[in-house]
Amino acid sequence: QNQQNQFNHQNQQNQFNHQNQQNQFNHQNQFNHQNQNQNQFNQQNQFQFNHQNQQNQFNKFNPNTFIQNPNLSFKRKTYSARYYELKKKRENLPIFAHKEEILQKIKENKVIILCGETGCGKTTQVPQFLIDGGYHLTGKQIACTQPRRVAALNVANRVSQEMDVVLGEEVGYTIRFEDKTSSKTIIRYLTDGMLLREAMFDHSLSKYSVIIIDEAHERTLSTDILLGLLKQLINKRQDLKIIIMSATLESEKFKQFFIDPPVLEISGRMFPVEILYSQVPEEDYFESAIRTVMQIHIYEQPGDILLFLTGEEEIEEACKRIKKNASQLQGDLCGKLRVLPLYSALPPDVQQKVFDDPPNHIRIQHNTKREILSHEKTRNLGEKVEQKEEKEKSNEDEEKILYSRKVVIATNIAETSITIDGIVYVVDPGFSKQKVYNPRNRVESLLITPISKASANQRTGRAGRTKPGKCYRIYTKQGYEELQDQNNPEILCSNLSSVVLTLLKLQVEDLVHFDYMDPPPPETLMRALESLNYLGALDSDGKLTSLGNLMSEYPLDPTLSKMVIASSRHNCAREILSLAAMLSVPSPFFCPKEKTQQANDTHFEFHHESGDHITLLNIFHEWKSRNSNTDWAYDSYLNFRSLKNAENIRKQLSDIMIRQNFKITHTSIHHPDYYKNIQKCLVEGFFMQVAHLESSGKYMIIKDKQPVEIHPSSFLQEKPNWVLYNEFILTSKNYIRTCTKIEGEWLIEIASHYYDLSNFPKGSVKRELEKLYLRKAFRNKSFISSNQNQNQNQNQ
Ligand code: CDP
Ligand code: MG
Repeated sequence: QNQQNQFNHQNQQNQFNHQNQQNQFNHQNQFNHQNQNQNQFNQQNQFQFNHQNQQNQFNKFNPNTFIQNPNLSFKRKTYSARYYELKKKRENLPIFAHKEEILQKIKENKVIILCGETGCGKTTQVPQFLIDGGYHLTGKQIACTQPRRVAALNVANRVSQEMDVVLGEEVGYTIRFEDKTSSKTIIRYLTDGMLLREAMFDHSLSKYSVIIIDEAHERTLSTDILLGLLKQLINKRQDLKIIIMSATLESEKFKQFFIDPPVLEISGRMFPVEILYSQVPEEDYFESAIRTVMQIHIYEQPGDILLFLTGEEEIEEACKRIKKNASQLQGDLCGKLRVLPLYSALPPDVQQKVFDDPPNHIRIQHNTKREILSHEKTRNLGEKVEQKEEKEKSNEDEEKILYSRKVVIATNIAETSITIDGIVYVVDPGFSKQKVYNPRNRVESLLITPISKASANQRTGRAGRTKPGKCYRIYTKQGYEELQDQNNPEILCSNLSSVVLTLLKLQVEDLVHFDYMDPPPPETLMRALESLNYLGALDSDGKLTSLGNLMSEYPLDPTLSKMVIASSRHNCAREILSLAAMLSVPSPFFCPKEKTQQANDTHFEFHHESGDHITLLNIFHEWKSRNSNTDWAYDSYLNFRSLKNAENIRKQLSDIMIRQNFKITHTSIHHPDYYKNIQKCLVEGFFMQVAHLESSGKYMIIKDKQPVEIHPSSFLQEKPNWVLYNEFILTSKNYIRTCTKIEGEWLIEIASHYYDLSNFPKGSVKRELEKLYLRKAFRNKSFISSNQNQNQNQNQ
């Protein structure tokens, strides 16, 4: 089924990739106006919204209710000006009118479903309503899950401001490797994955009075598993309340799953959005998207732009290109364009810029091209500002930065989980990165894939939040019609090893009959059990072994946790901890396009002949020996944030190891086995991810007979017979990335159960392994006979 999916995706992609029309500046004609139906629909919504606004007047939020209630003493007697400013905004959110209804329904039921247009206030307001409802008074917390780390962090920050408290105290967040909460915390935003981890250690999630599963429509793997667990849990815990929140109105499935809970629908506030399609399929969505953004900036009325791209690289590239294009605008007509990226790897303060302007940023009136021709003065203003910002960021405070329009370039994080006010124009190229999994070779990859109709509609909706907007779809109307209706639930397209380990730790033993909303493909489940068995986490009855138990305590993929545990025995725990941390952060290599050669040369100084793993380790060691100096990282073209995160992750992993009574062993760097120990320990976790060099000069993945190439970014200088890899990447070619040279003997020494020749596919790998086994047997035999000789000699 998976392969079939991939095939379909490719097919769809082709439809987007037909001929490109090079008519750059006449965009008004390039798009079909398809807005009539949408307009009618939205006018209805708008009417509802006005109606709600009137209701709001009778339902005003009163902060005094907090102050008068001594049980809610975390509230202050006085509030900051910001509090009152935000309070006004809160009262205007569509969800505000439903506060009493929500509290009433949750009082009467164990489970409720809450659907509402993105931006209506679900994520930020519902936990606060629950505080007003007193759900924290039992000493328990309110949990609200998010599929994305950025969303958890961002929303917690926002809510702490709305409640006028310090982030990390009453309102906090927990994401993998980062916990910003305290004993005071009453509202905890956390990733769904982290709540699942908490359930491993506290099966009944006893510290929560209400659990909100937010963005349930995204159907991430962890959300799906949590839904199954919570369904069991509500029978055990009489006091627990569950709220399922979702953006789209696809509530039927959740309703059936939870056996008919009440569904509350919050009608959103949507202004009409005009949808404009490409007339012919675009050859290069990236180029067309950039062109479209520039055209909007030049020709369209005031209003901010939101462009959806698939990931960090594309976004950074687009930021540069758009900044450059904007600075070259002939006769700078429209004022400055402020360009802001938004993706999960960005540090929180940079993400925050999308919401709040720094105090010295001042928005000026935007003028469209037609108006501007008579406003030559603005041009000079624009140029001055441009030069100013080019200079240096540190000077920003001294002079005012004026801009007239902002463009946010985001991943699908801005589709539902984060709402940016002021967006009037959406540019949607129709792609996102999605997980695909092939259980046969256990390869999970992120592929750039056409989005679903549901996603396309969500994206469009982002343009109509504050006033009527426009959505530019960089695909044809027909392309839209051919999109899949909904995204596939992640459980159908993921490697399930981690989840299976989690479920077993949760004492869910019958994995096949677990209450899944959509049961995973049997082959995927079987493969997960099989690889956990090879790793030694499960016995042949599918029960968790003591090793499996230990492995499940690390917030890592099972291959990595197995490697970490084995490192103590291989006398290299100190190094393997650093390496596991480095493998858990985004790539530390930073290669600015204009300085690729310098960056590569600098990176090469860290390289080790065994390949990429020890190169990563060298970088980490060097960074530590420079006292984690940011300037040094910058000068070495390294991403200091990745390095800093790795430091933090390493600390957490080593805490777990120490708690589990493992020695943090190490070998002297001058010892001849220093590198060998590390390489062998890698094999402990990654023996299923090995490629062999065939006589044809090509690499073949062991057991799957899949041809692959070593990724061009690798530091390996030669072509070793056996390489172990961290990642398999599917692009136009099959690449393996982060590779290290290993010895064939280690495979049969460390993982003879996996390299068992009795059921090994025929071919050159099998022949090589046979030789290795023979050699080993011969060595053992000669060892035994020489021992026997010795014994005989001694006896004589
Ligand atoms: O969850 P839902 O999509 O229903 O809305 P929300 O995330 O609770 O956001 C409600 C409102 O808060 C939106 O209008 C956002 O623009 C605003 N918000 C904000 O201005 N800054 C944030 N960091 C988060 C939300
Ligand atoms: Mg939300």
